[in-house]
Amino acid sequence: MELLNPQPGERILDVGCGTGQLTAEIARSGATVTGLDNSAEMLAEARKNYPNLAFVLGDAASFRFPEPVDAVFSNAVLHWVKDAEGAIKSIAQALRPGGRFVAEFGGQGNIASVQAALRAVLGPSADEQSPWYYPSVGEYAPILEAHGMEVRDAHLFDRPTPLQGEDGMEHWLRMFTQSYLRQFSPERADDVVSQLVDHLRPTLYHDGVWTVDYRRLRVQCVRH
Ligand code: BEZ
Repeated sequence: MELLNPQPGERILDVGCGTGQLTAEIARSGATVTGLDNSAEMLAEARKNYPNLAFVLGDAASFRFPEPVDAVFSNAVLHWVKDAEGAIKSIAQALRPGGRFVAEFGGQGNIASVQAALRAVLGPSADEQSPWYYPSVGEYAPILEAHGMEVRDAHLFDRPTPLQGEDGMEHWLRMFTQSYLRQFSPERADDVVSQLVDHLRPTLYHDGVWTVDYRRLRVQCVRH
C-alpha cells in the first residue's frame, strides 16, 4: 500500500480484489478505485461489505478495462495466474502511459516445503498439477519489459508467516490445496492431508507454532 502511494482523484484498479478489504483501504486515500476479481462469490461479498465501491468481474489473465487508469495494484493473487503473459498484457493495456504497476505475490521458492511434501505424498506428478506460478526476478522482469513496463524495482524475499493454532497447517492445506484434494474421496483426502501435515511438521512446526514458508516477489513498474 505504501509503495502504491495512492493519491486523491487517481483512478486505480485492484486486480484480484477478493472481498475488497485492500480495495477499501486504497479508496480511503481519496482515489477512485475499482476492484476486479474472477469469483462472483467474492465480488458479492465485496459489494455487500463496501456498497459504495465499484467491483467488476474479470479474469486477471484476459481482462480489458475500458478507461486507462493511473495505477494497477495486486496483492497475493498473481501466483494463481499461470498465464503471466496474459496478466501482464491485460495490466499494461489498462494503464495510461506513465501509470504504475505495484504488485506482490508468491515468487520462486514460495512454499517450497509444501511443494516438497506434495511431491513426497502424491508423487512427481504433483509438480505438473500445481495451480501456482512462482517466477524469479529474472523470469518475470523480461515479461514486464516485453509489455512496455519499465521495471523500477523487483525483488524476492522470504516472508515466513505464522498460522493460527495447532490445526493451522491442516486448515491451510484444506483451503489452498483443493485442486489436488478434489480428485480424492473425502476419506482419502483426509489421509493425504494428515500425511502432508506429518511431512511438514519437522520443517514448519516449531515451539507450538506452524509457520508457512512464503516467499514474495514484489515489483514496481511504470508503463512507457
Ligand atoms: C501465497 O503465497 O500467498 C499462497 C500460496 C499458495 C496458496 C495460498 C497462498
